[in-house]
Amino acid sequence: GPGTQVDETRRGRFTSRRVFILAAIGSAVGLGNIWRFPYVAYENGGGAFILPYLVALLTAGIPFLLLDYGLGHRFRGSAPLSFARARRRIETIGWWQVLLCFCIGVYYAAVLAWAVRYTFFSVNKAWGDDPETFFFDDFLHLGDPGVAMEFTPGVLVPLLVVWVALLVIMALGVQRGIGAVAMIFIPILVIAFIALVVQALLLPGSGGGLNALFTPEWAALAEPGVWGAAFGQIFFSLSIGFGVMITYASYVKRKTDMTGSAMAVGFANSGFELLAGIGVFAALGFMAQASGVAVADVASDGIGLAFVAFPAIINEAPAGALLGVLFFGSLVIAGLTSLISVIEVVISGVRDKFELSRLTATLSVVIPTAVISLVLFATTSGLYVLDIVDHFVNQFGILLVAVVSMLVLAWGVRLLPELIRQLNHHGSIPVGRAWQLLIGVVAPLALLYVLVRQFITDIG
Ligand code: PHE
Repeated sequence: GPGTQVDETRRGRFTSRRVFILAAIGSAVGLGNIWRFPYVAYENGGGAFILPYLVALLTAGIPFLLLDYGLGHRFRGSAPLSFARARRRIETIGWWQVLLCFCIGVYYAAVLAWAVRYTFFSVNKAWGDDPETFFFDDFLHLGDPGVAMEFTPGVLVPLLVVWVALLVIMALGVQRGIGAVAMIFIPILVIAFIALVVQALLLPGSGGGLNALFTPEWAALAEPGVWGAAFGQIFFSLSIGFGVMITYASYVKRKTDMTGSAMAVGFANSGFELLAGIGVFAALGFMAQASGVAVADVASDGIGLAFVAFPAIINEAPAGALLGVLFFGSLVIAGLTSLISVIEVVISGVRDKFELSRLTATLSVVIPTAVISLVLFATTSGLYVLDIVDHFVNQFGILLVAVVSMLVLAWGVRLLPELIRQLNHHGSIPVGRAWQLLIGVVAPLALLYVLVRQFITDIG
């Protein structure tokens, strides 16, 4: 067959289904849950967003997760090798996913490094009275427009730490590296995050934030963009269409319930997302009340939320240092376990292709990626690159590769019946015609629609 590979036991495997599920949750729960979801929900109908979100989860999210699991479990390879073993001519889809993961890894590591630094900053509120100026000028050194590129030591050191940690974890392998980190840190993340949400809910004014988030704006359901946002959020958040879930599924024993696992991962991820929405908006409600403005005036997304709005909240809140350590600590853990999965896609792809040892593959992937990441993000050019890459990868890369792979697998090479047999073999939830219809018709149509709309908004 194509792409001979390192034999099964040497390739590495998770020792149990529990470890696999924790690692998959680790990949899914990331920056997307903590800083992307709350704002996306708020902007797209608030409480009413739950409906499109659930529709996207059930019609595209979980079905696609099953597709990834079926592929990895059936063909037992990295993304490129799994596609190649299915049909030789579709190996390219896997390499496309490897490329996406490489791009994501480069900038995800940078945000992780910022979060590491900000966890420590939280203790003495090192950002002072003006977190915005602090972040852009003092921390990222974007203040001086004359300097195009210059290393920023505040980012360089934590970013180096992130890459060294990653090198060690990845070299340790599937179970002792990826699995062990998930087993230790996912429970810690759950506890820290629940503590964060409780503390946020106890802040005065938190109720106002929750009202802002959950008040349903039913009219939003008539807007196509709202449905698009739901599908986009589900794909990024569940890490589907990146080869991550294919790769992880290739490391579980043959007799594993993959359909039940997909449900567990899908609902755990959404549960975490909902929790993040509650925690973030409770904190924003507090801030709005403390500064006498509307929640809309303090709400922001992404970088602005984490590195500008939250420090301001931490400055005002009772036991603010604790709130900060919990928030940034959660970002670090959630980000690390996602970054691990992204890099594993690249390492396993290269490893299977060139038949390398784990160590050689790890070194040859992590070192160049780290160097690029350091040059791009430990310098003053970082934020600009991040904006462009993030937009491109998220808006087009992911959804496009997802649509192509669904259409190719369903209609091009007609692989779904084989995957159905595979999934049903040890699965606890039967998969059949309905799934085939979702993967072959419903989900691709929904995603194509999202892509076209985004393209129109982009050029418009
Ligand atoms: N799912 C992760 C998040 O929500 C991001 C991610 C994307 C992880 C792609 C792995 C692969 O942040």
